[in-house]
Amino acid sequence: MALVLALETSCDESAAAVVTSRAGRWQVLSSRIASQVEEHARWGGVVPEIASRRHVEALPALVETVLDESGVSVGELDAVAATVAPGLAGALMVASVTGRSLAALHGRPFIGVHHLEGHLASVQLADRSPEPPYLVLLVSGGHTELIRVDRSGDMLRLGRSHDDAAGEAFDKVARLLGLGYPGGPAIQQVAESGDPQRFSLPKGRVSRPGGGFHPYDFSFSGLKTAMLRTVEKLRAEQSELPLADLAASFEQVVADVLVQRALRCALDHGLDQLVMVGGVAANRRLRSQMTAQAEARKVGVTIAPLAFCTDNAAMIGAAALARLARTVTDSSLEIGVAPRWPLDRASELYKTPPPF
Ligand code: KG4
Ligand code: ZN
Repeated sequence: MALVLALETSCDESAAAVVTSRAGRWQVLSSRIASQVEEHARWGGVVPEIASRRHVEALPALVETVLDESGVSVGELDAVAATVAPGLAGALMVASVTGRSLAALHGRPFIGVHHLEGHLASVQLADRSPEPPYLVLLVSGGHTELIRVDRSGDMLRLGRSHDDAAGEAFDKVARLLGLGYPGGPAIQQVAESGDPQRFSLPKGRVSRPGGGFHPYDFSFSGLKTAMLRTVEKLRAEQSELPLADLAASFEQVVADVLVQRALRCALDHGLDQLVMVGGVAANRRLRSQMTAQAEARKVGVTIAPLAFCTDNAAMIGAAALARLARTVTDSSLEIGVAPRWPLDRASELYKTPPPF
């Protein structure tokens, strides 16, 4: 059995969790999130300086609460984990410094976790978690990627967005429609009563220099522009926008593109298991269409539990436990934070000397 306290402050959610592993299964003893969404909504997006300040205010109480709720003291922990990359530098610092200080004070190891490795590990918190090899569709506010995870745990990126991430497209289109921030949940709600076939929108294929298309890559900037043109045209013709139909048509085309390219990638690579994680994986239409179409093609699908799709600390704890299970892991206490760091170099976070 291993026990970790995990902290996450890479963007606009302050989060803490205590996660344990028993006989190869992860169990969340307590997980708390303090969202700053309402504060950032006033500005239409995340304001980094406000985010850092709110993390400093919120994190100590969250740590106390999750330790209380799980009945665990810091001295009993096998490690303290915190997200150290990628994300907003000032925001990352809060969990990183808090985690390192707790670890140093109590003589526990510190594990600096890669945020995307956390999203990938969120699927281990599902009732039935898959065994590699499988293909992961990671869809968040900052990333849209298809990643093959091998039996050894090695990861290889097979597809990516060439411009906006899917979540970013949701956020930008929501702003265009005047639906507020964050865009994903706002669009999902308005789209419920809409007609997803009313507007025909582009699927954003990415050309290859030698001709043809990248079969597993994405582009959402053309879709965003098409939404803008449609809205401008409608505004010129009528006073009130058909918001529900616009939101539903947008959500439908994003779901179509993600489902079709992910399944094609899985089948082409002989992978019969697909995993979906990240904030956009919370989307109801995407969840149901991915499940239905994967089933129809005999591909098994596991989607991260709804509570662990958007940013949370339990997934950071799950990633730390997976590292602990594989090797003796202890990041340097000197490890800083990095706003950018590729997922395929996540292992370097555990090297001596540290990479940053
Ligand atoms: O994973 P996440 O919490 O943070 C990042 O690491 O980026 O993802 C946040 C993104 C935002 O862009 C948000 O609009 C989107 O996930 N999102 C959704 C939904 N809930 C959150 N997108 C579509 N449908 C949702 N229900
Ligand atoms: Zn995230």
